[in-house]
Amino acid sequence: MTNPAEVDAVILVGGQGTRLRPLTLSAPKPMLPTAGLPFLTHLLSRIAAAGVTHVVMGTSYKAEVFESEFGDGSKLGLQIDYVTETDALGTGGAIANVAGHLRHDTALVFNGDVLSGADLGALLDSHDNHQADVTLHLVRVGDPRAFGCVPTDPDGVVTAFLEKTQDPPTDQINAGCYVFKRDVIDRIPKGRALSVEREVFPGLLADGHRVCGYVDASYWRDMGTPEDFVRGSADLVRGIAPSPALHGQRGESLVHDGAGVAPGALLIGGTVVGRGAEIGAGARLDGAVIFDGVRVEAGAVIERSIIGFGARIGPRALIRDGVIGDGADIGARCELLRGARVWPGVSIPDGGLRFSTDV
Ligand code: GDD
Ligand code: MG
Repeated sequence: MTNPAEVDAVILVGGQGTRLRPLTLSAPKPMLPTAGLPFLTHLLSRIAAAGVTHVVMGTSYKAEVFESEFGDGSKLGLQIDYVTETDALGTGGAIANVAGHLRHDTALVFNGDVLSGADLGALLDSHDNHQADVTLHLVRVGDPRAFGCVPTDPDGVVTAFLEKTQDPPTDQINAGCYVFKRDVIDRIPKGRALSVEREVFPGLLADGHRVCGYVDASYWRDMGTPEDFVRGSADLVRGIAPSPALHGQRGESLVHDGAGVAPGALLIGGTVVGRGAEIGAGARLDGAVIFDGVRVEAGAVIERSIIGFGARIGPRALIRDGVIGDGADIGARCELLRGARVWPGVSIPDGGLRFSTDV
């Protein structure tokens, strides 16, 4: 059986996080605060808890932020190397690009935006038992069209890899975590952009490589959209999603140091309130992700929304399924619903944007 201490972890964190704009204009997606910690802290702690010690991060967009936060990794009990693509190489190019930094014969490759409870030891064992060249963690989802669809035969051997197809033959999808034999990585073409999903996996299948699936039913969520980010954060707060990085009591809300919550404010649905934020009297926050330094005025209602650093939500404003950029100022009684996104620093005057006609 493979010893996790003899496995490298590779984390792909070079994407631009476009679906989470405008929050990702100032921070890369894997660094956005999730239950009070940069998202990657949850993944890194999970990797450390599994006994893997060496991590290579494949960075590109806002590359410098990762090293300033995690340094050499020693605080998490890890040794972290950073490999930066000047021009993003795509998921396959990024894996090929870290090959020179691998120390072992087996690598665990992770998408940097997935919240998961999968047992990494069991995934490695499955890879060994199947004598696979590559093993893909697979999960079942309600709508596979936004993911890589991965059918397998009755022995668990992958028969196709169909990235984001409108006509998925199964509800089994790529969960964004792979075990690679080192020599398979060494053979990925270097120095040009390519997609692991659209080129490398289909190419390996066509060449007759043994690609296997490891299916489980543990917690799983891709955090790449506002809706999923809000759900994943709330699940961490409520203890529905596992994370070795979170200790102590989990409950309906999580309020960080230096935040002020006025009497009569209601915090439910896995709401998280960042450091130094102020929540006014009678405000109602249900599944809200409130970054550091935000001010929510009296009587405001925030449901399933993300409020960026230092933004202000005026008295009796309503934000539902919205994303408010850093430093934006939403005037009193404004209503922002159904996927509304406000860009950083934008001010909307009192009553200046409404979905209803009452005054
Ligand atoms: N280094 C590097 N360079 N990283 C990249 C690049 C790149 O050029 N492009 C994307 N990444 C990173 C992103 O930062 C992210 O952590 C990860 O690769 C996956 O990219 P996403 O943009 O989040 O992909 P997706 O969610 O649309 O689809 C992927 O994940 C699904 C599961 O969550 C695919 O792997 C699907 O097949 C899969 O089902
Ligand atoms: Mg993703």
